[in-house]
Amino acid sequence: MLCVCDVMGEWHKSKFTDLQHGFMDVFDALEGRRSIRAYQDRPVSRETVEKLLQAAELAPSAGNLQSRRYVVVMCQDLRKALALAAYGQSHISSAPVDIVVCADVRRSSRRYGDRGSLYAIQDADAAVMCMLLAAHAMGLGACWNGAFDEEMVRDILSIEEGVAPVAIISLGWPAESPRSPGRLPPNARWEV
Ligand SMILES: Cc1cc2nc3c(=O)[nH]c(=O)nc-3n(C[C@H](O)[C@H](O)[C@H](O)COP(=O)(O)O)c2cc1C
Repeated sequence: MLCVCDVMGEWHKSKFTDLQHGFMDVFDALEGRRSIRAYQDRPVSRETVEKLLQAAELAPSAGNLQSRRYVVVMCQDLRKALALAAYGQSHISSAPVDIVVCADVRRSSRRYGDRGSLYAIQDADAAVMCMLLAAHAMGLGACWNGAFDEEMVRDILSIEEGVAPVAIISLGWPAESPRSPGRLPPNARWEV
């Protein structure tokens, strides 16, 4: 059985035994993860966020360049500003932590030219998915928020040119357990 913890390595088990997580089958994690938009009034420690960032960096990336960056936002004023930039999505300000995941387009484009911007976005998105699964495995609740005004987010967090915010991950200890909204079956064409 492949476990999330196995994927994250031995250090994971030895260093973070205090955290609320256990072994979780990858398919259980994929099926059990939900977008969580209501959070307990309970802080998320810096250690916990650092662990999520390490999980995110285990994601694949084009040329292993890891063309992605993170801005961890705990300050309430900035969380409120981010919620406004996200068209008033209040769970972004009520979450104790928001992690803004950015594509480092400049880094990727240095090696890959025009293709670099696509790769950097894919690098960032792969990291988001690893982070969401790790958060779920740790008992946290998170939501991938893609609806926001990019320029506003850039201004609020002073994100430089050549780096593009692609997702705001709102994060906290869950105060809801929504049912699965369901999925369509895979839309796949097989050429055999
Ligand atoms: C690219 C992308 C953008 C999204 N943007 C938002 C968003 O702005 N606000 C929000 O509440 N959820 C957002 N979501 C979460 C989806 O609504 C959610 O994943 C979907 O309804 C399926 O629910 P589940 O995550 O619980 O399986 C986004 C998800 C993705 C992948």
